[in-house]
Amino acid sequence: MQDTSFAILPENEKKLINKDYKNMGALVSYHSKENNSVELQCENGYVSIQFYRDDIVRIIMNPKGVPIQKSTLAVIKEPEEVKVTIDEDENELTLTSPKLKLVINKVSVLVSIYDSEGQLIVSDAKEGMGYTSNQEVVCYKKMDQENHFYGFGEKTSFLDKRGEKMTMWNTDVYAPHNPEIDALYQSIPYFMSIRNGIAYGIFFDNTSKTVFDMKSSADMYSFSAEAGQLDYYVFAGPSPKDVLEQYTDITGRMPLPPKWSLGYHQSRYSYKSEQEVRDLVAAFKEKDIPLDAVYLDIHYMDGYRVFTFDEDRFPNPKKLIQELKDAGIQVVPIVDPGVKEDPEYYIYQEGVRNDYFCKYIEGNIYFGPVWPGNSAFPDFTSSEVRKWWGDKYQFYTEMGIEGIWNDMNEPAVFNETKTMDVKVIHENDGDPKTHRELHNIYGLLMEESTYEGMKRQLDGNRPFLLTRAGYAGVQRYASVWTGDNRSFWEHLQMAIPMCMNLGMSGVPFCGPDVGGFAHDSNGQLLTRWTQFGTFTPYFRNHSEQSTISQEPWSFGEEYEKVIRKYIQERYVWLPYLYTLFKDASVTGVPVMRPLVLEYPTDKNTFNLSDQFMIGSDMIVAPILTPDTYHRVVYLPEGSWVNYWTDEKLEGGKHHLVEADLSTLPIFIQEGAILTHGTVKSSTETKESELTVHIYPADGHSSSFTYYEDDGKSFKYEEGSYFECKFNIEFKNNRLEITTSLAQDKYDPDWEKVQVIVHGISDEAVILLNGTEQGKVESLGSSRYKILAGKQDFK
Ligand code: GLC
Repeated sequence: MQDTSFAILPENEKKLINKDYKNMGALVSYHSKENNSVELQCENGYVSIQFYRDDIVRIIMNPKGVPIQKSTLAVIKEPEEVKVTIDEDENELTLTSPKLKLVINKVSVLVSIYDSEGQLIVSDAKEGMGYTSNQEVVCYKKMDQENHFYGFGEKTSFLDKRGEKMTMWNTDVYAPHNPEIDALYQSIPYFMSIRNGIAYGIFFDNTSKTVFDMKSSADMYSFSAEAGQLDYYVFAGPSPKDVLEQYTDITGRMPLPPKWSLGYHQSRYSYKSEQEVRDLVAAFKEKDIPLDAVYLDIHYMDGYRVFTFDEDRFPNPKKLIQELKDAGIQVVPIVDPGVKEDPEYYIYQEGVRNDYFCKYIEGNIYFGPVWPGNSAFPDFTSSEVRKWWGDKYQFYTEMGIEGIWNDMNEPAVFNETKTMDVKVIHENDGDPKTHRELHNIYGLLMEESTYEGMKRQLDGNRPFLLTRAGYAGVQRYASVWTGDNRSFWEHLQMAIPMCMNLGMSGVPFCGPDVGGFAHDSNGQLLTRWTQFGTFTPYFRNHSEQSTISQEPWSFGEEYEKVIRKYIQERYVWLPYLYTLFKDASVTGVPVMRPLVLEYPTDKNTFNLSDQFMIGSDMIVAPILTPDTYHRVVYLPEGSWVNYWTDEKLEGGKHHLVEADLSTLPIFIQEGAILTHGTVKSSTETKESELTVHIYPADGHSSSFTYYEDDGKSFKYEEGSYFECKFNIEFKNNRLEITTSLAQDKYDPDWEKVQVIVHGISDEAVILLNGTEQGKVESLGSSRYKILAGKQDFK
């Protein structure tokens, strides 16, 4: 009845502060413990405060007893040694670390956090932290007009989440995603607030249903959970990039993905037979469209039983996979968690015999309907089950498969609640908890199981995983696609802030289904969406079985031509993107980022939702409406160049730019150094030539560190990589380019290098590592080409 007026029954009125809410009240006593932590006994509960690092503090509130320190599996870091001093006066207790000062009001336990210069970072509102009679835990923090909010994982609507109330409860949403649908497949209970350029972050590590309310009050926000403790971390910043470093230090970073996973991928629900797959691959080849992976959706299986192939439609999967691999194309099959209830099916038998499925407390297995019909679900909260399930992927890896697509892992169940009965009890390695308490972590644990299993089996190669569901830390195992979007222009628009906020939530490797999953796509939409996809970290075209086909050639020549060009562009840009992926794997700063991350004091960027940055030197502004051949682009302070025409554009203002169907507006900041490769049929083709584009900024110097490795193995962890720093300095019409090799334990494929210098005059002198260069060729529009070789990078 929630979709009738019954939903707004008078007694359903929600109040900002629940009438039986109780905060901690006064401080009764405290004592410090050896692990940088202090425990407070308060009038109405218990609080523990622990410094995780000089600039990260963890606060736990438990109404009933001393807080439990064990964290969820999202957290992979142990607290560092932090020198904490405690001072006390009549009114306050003060804890000081080398970077932070925490002041606790004793009359009513309220926490204020300051930096070492005494600047307030964040403080509790007067309601503080507390709980309600139904065990909901809540924390209220102050905010003002200048606070803007980013992160929260995968959410609909605009970039800035100020004015939004969001629920975290992993949900399979097939209904059209719109601004009212706030609980999607991923729950990342983390955000960053930016206020006048200064940032802090909060990670609320609670795997039950949580709510973040940045809407209901003008001067405070809250986060609450329906079960469990109030357990949160404050990351002190002060820059937005510092917050990302701090959050990903606690929850981990994306491992460097295999290069093939950054190419163009083609999917459909479903390519239903070996023949169909072969025909598809042949069409790509014939049409000269690059391709790195083909996906097998649920129809490849025998009756939707995971870890099987249908023998009629896929009689020799190993041969198919090998053939495709030889052509430089990977096969990525779907694997869902639901295991068909079938006593003659080996996975079901093993799961039952070993007691590996989720059960009720009474001992009976929980069954729910998904694709194969009634199904049981592995209890991923048990490390033994994770190991078992991970080992099962041998079925695929033995055939040569290196990538897996995990879907329906919220877990989705075809019933009213859309998921497993919340009364189910998870084994949780000897600390049993209900599904209500652990729901949001189920997907993350499936990814851990899959990733670790694949890694054990792939003989030193990097696994690629794609997941629909996840929790904080999902970046450690999988890339994320944003689920069942539709072929609506509105969904193309929404994908930009959604992916930018995933990036701001520690998940750099993400992207939507290009072209839209449900509903029928069309030529223009697919073209504009593919242009956008060229720069989304994850680039896959996928669509639902009953929709019009949307492979790159589906809508005729005019569109195919442009789509081909942009898929090819992806390969041209890969050497640059790969370097940014490497950076993200080290710093947590995403590849695709909102402008506010780079320009946090520029108010034009605070809610800029229709353009984004790739790295820190490049702005992409896709066309997002039909029959539109122009748009407004905001370029922040500095000098910018139109990537296609080399036209110079002044920063700090909005520009009206033209963009015919074949143009994706891209702008490069002066001072930028970009590395490009060549068009190829897949990432398997060797890179023959590196192109370095240089955009000198008059009177300035800048640098870029280019990274490359074998793109496949983990050998880079032992130093087998190539890293070269480019420095440029442009003064008095003299451009000095210097290169310094930072690491040469990997030998790149390319021998030839061309350096293209943009925006300099005929009179300019160019020096490469101190030697004057003859300009080999003028490419028009003040572009000059000079040639170099690998030998110049010594
Ligand atoms: C879900 C997935 C979708 C997939 C379908 C069939 O709806 O989100 O991508 O194609 O299931 O497996």
